[in-house]
Amino acid sequence: MKIVVGSDHAGFDLKEECKRFMERELGHEVKDMGVFDKSSADYPQVAHKVARAVAGGEFERGLLVCGTGIGMSMVANRYKGVRASLCHNIYTARLSREHNDANIMTMGGRVIGTGLALEMVRVFLETGFEGGRHQRRIGQFDSTGI
Ligand code: RB5
Repeated sequence: MKIVVGSDHAGFDLKEECKRFMERELGHEVKDMGVFDKSSADYPQVAHKVARAVAGGEFERGLLVCGTGIGMSMVANRYKGVRASLCHNIYTARLSREHNDANIMTMGGRVIGTGLALEMVRVFLETGFEGGRHQRRIGQFDSTGI
């Protein structure tokens, strides 16, 4: 799978761990949109790059890490075709795929430990979308239907 990742300074360490894990343990192809060190950075700049790459179809999934994951998810969800989910545990990572067909997961580098984050990444990448009634609901994201 082609995956794009990004973080700000607060998510840098966790982004690096997740990137290594995806490449070495899971065998995915990962493109890193930065940041590349821990100097203070504005998270929207990176969120725009990753969300645009996923919305354009160049990458199947994305991972964004900031301090809480909140800002990254807010920015990424402004892009049509992006379904970014802020996840905190295995359950939300799994359901974000099964029910929401999330294509970007966001996480908080100041919230989640590395061991949990890596398992969330595995679940996010390996869990399929259930479709059916969930597909119908996703179809309602951009219009009320009334
Ligand atoms: C940076 O201090 C912090 O605001 C940012 O990483 C993120 O948590 C925003 O949502």
